[in-house]
Formats: sequence, structure tokens, C-alpha cells
Amino acid sequence: MHPTLDHVMPITTRPPVVMTEGTGSWLRDSEGRTYLDFVQGWAVNCLGHSHPVMVEAIREQAARLINCSPAFHNEPMAQLTALIAVTSGLQHVFLCNSGAEANEGAIKLARKWGAKHRDGAYEIVTTQGAFHGRTLATMSASGKAAFEPLFEPKVPGFVKVPLNDLEAMANAITEQTVAVMLEPIQGEAGVIPATDAYLRAVRRLTRERGVLLILDEIQTGIGRTGLMYAFEHVEARPDILTLGKGLGGGVPLAALVASAAASCFEPGDQGGTFNGNPLMAAIGCAVLGTVRQPAFLASVRETGDYLAARLTELSAATGHGKVRGRGLLLALALGHGEAQKVVDAALDRGLLINAPRPDSLRFMPALTVTREEIDTMIERLGPCLT
Ligand SMILES: Cc1ncc(COP(=O)(O)O)c(C=O)c1O
Repeated sequence: MHPTLDHVMPITTRPPVVMTEGTGSWLRDSEGRTYLDFVQGWAVNCLGHSHPVMVEAIREQAARLINCSPAFHNEPMAQLTALIAVTSGLQHVFLCNSGAEANEGAIKLARKWGAKHRDGAYEIVTTQGAFHGRTLATMSASGKAAFEPLFEPKVPGFVKVPLNDLEAMANAITEQTVAVMLEPIQGEAGVIPATDAYLRAVRRLTRERGVLLILDEIQTGIGRTGLMYAFEHVEARPDILTLGKGLGGGVPLAALVASAAASCFEPGDQGGTFNGNPLMAAIGCAVLGTVRQPAFLASVRETGDYLAARLTELSAATGHGKVRGRGLLLALALGHGEAQKVVDAALDRGLLINAPRPDSLRFMPALTVTREEIDTMIERLGPCLT
């Protein structure tokens, strides 16, 4: 018997299943059914469910210090900000609780920088199809068509251009522009990559035009694409970087990261009750300490290639389309527009996958997923595709 679900605010459609336990790539519900999890909290649980490194960090830090308020420094906050700085090459880190909060902070930081260094310019150029979060400003920054009629009026100051169209980007940058904001791979739009050439060119363009580059790596960061950050594939280090999801490996932890030159908040500009709290920061240290190891990242690239190869093979055998994405953030283009039916059929077979668009399936397993688990996933997915 599980408790009533009547009081859960209905903000999304959920299957009538209550999850109770998880280990690695596997979840278990209250009826004892098990599921192979290729969603992992929406690309969040980078070490899978309840990884011992995280469990130990939680146990140790909880017994030591859970919260001392953001008015004081604490040791895990110092360690995690230093780890993010050393791995990203950017100097200042503000720890927060969700991707939307990190992006909201990035928007504020860019506007502050514009007020100080660019005659009060405040516009940010973003891309059609982008997803940056669900606060009012981040919904306004997003280029998701379904958001357009919602919660009007939106926050002004966002100009949208098509992704991978350099000319449109160049034309959109004016005297009013303070920054360009992009995802290296648009995850929620269906795993649509910015091309390497485009990312490099946008980095050059933003430098030439004297505006900031903000990279939203909330979905692509922390090893997801096989390097610590997706910008490393193209050596396009941004001025402002946002992280979330994998950073906490399953707990609410995110970060706004900035170069010393872009970092212009003054005391009082930014903050929040839970920011940098020692428990979350200690978990972030445990996750980052594991993911940043070269052997770990090499194994993400290898399993990513294996997953892409197995999906390509299955797609050819069942008459579907191409595989896109990088590392362990992949999508399969379907030959029809009924992806949700495939997701439902997979759930019945004990497999969790996601349909970001009616014509695509998304795969974002734990970065620790094994080849055997990928083989089991393919076995379960096959009959759902035909
Ligand atoms: C690229 C990107 N930015 C921002 C967000 C928002 O993060 P959160 O849901 O933690 O607020 C997401 C979440 O899916 C995301 O994928």
C-alpha cells in the first residue's frame, strides 16, 4: 500500500507507478517491478542510483555540518568551487539549487556587466528551440514554441535566432546586445547539436563584437558528452558557464561560473538561503572527484560509441532514422511521430526512455552504464519499435 497521490500538484502526466528504490542503472517500484533506467532523472544521476561514493559523502557530511547559512564560508563550498574553477578554467563560482536558478543568475550577471561595461545594453541573443528553465526569465530566454502563449507578459530583452545559422547570429548582435546564450546540444528540443564549426565561430564572433558568451551546459556538462564540459570538444571556453543536473548526481545542486572579467556581482546582487550549503557541496565534490578522472571520461566515450552503434544497428533493422548527439546524450529519429507510444510500450517491458519530441527518443543513461545493460536495453526496445 502506498499513500494517496491526490495531493501531488498535477504539473505533469505521470504513469501510475511509485518508485521506491534504485541501484546503478536499475529502479524498483512499490509493487516490486524493476526498470532499466535510461532517463536517470533527466540526465541527472551521472553515477546511477545511490552510488556508494555519494552515499558515503552524504553520510559523512550530514554527521559533520548540514547548513551554516550562506553568510559564512564552509569547507565543501571552498572545495567544490575550486574543483569547478580548475576543471573549467573559469575563476568564480556561485553554487545554487537548480539549472533555472543558475541561468537566471547568468542573465542577471550579463545585464550587470552590460550596465557597467556596455552602456546599459541588456539584450541577450538566444536560439530557437533552446530550453533554459522554468522561471519567468528563463522561459522568456527559451525558444520553445509551447512556452510562447504562457504566463504573459514575458521578461523582455531576448532575441531569438535559428541554431547553426551564423549569419542570423551575426545580424542579431547590435549595440543593445550584451551576450549570446546557447546550449552546445539542445537537449529538451530533441538532442539537436550546435555544430563544432558553429560553436567555434560564435566564440570568435562574440569576442570580436565585445559581447559575452554564455554556455548553458546544464545537460551537457559533467562528463555527459565524454569530456568534462562540451565546450572542450571545440576549445570554445565561454565567459559564463552554467551547470546543474549531473553536478549533484541526483541532489539539487547547480552552479553559475564566470571568468574574472565577467564576474561583476557586488555584495547584495545575488544570493539565496540554500546557496553553497555544505551538504550539497560535499556531494558535488564526490561526484566531480569521480567524473573528472581521465579513465572515467574515456569510458563514457567508449560506452557512448557502443550505445550509438547498437542504436544505429537497431534502427537499420527496424526501418527508423539516424542517431544524433554525443557521448551518452543520444537521440534516435523515428520513422513516425508516435514516440510517446514507444515510451509507454518500453515502460511495460521494464525500460525507461524519454520522448523529447513526437518523432524522437532520447537516451541519457548513467555515465556508469555497462555494455551488458546497453544490450538489455536494445533487447527490450526492439519489439517496441516495430
Ligand atoms: C539545458 C538546460 N538548461 C536549463 C535547464 C533547467 O534546469 P532545472 O530543471 O534544474 O531548473 C535544463 C533542464 O532540463 C536544461 O536541460
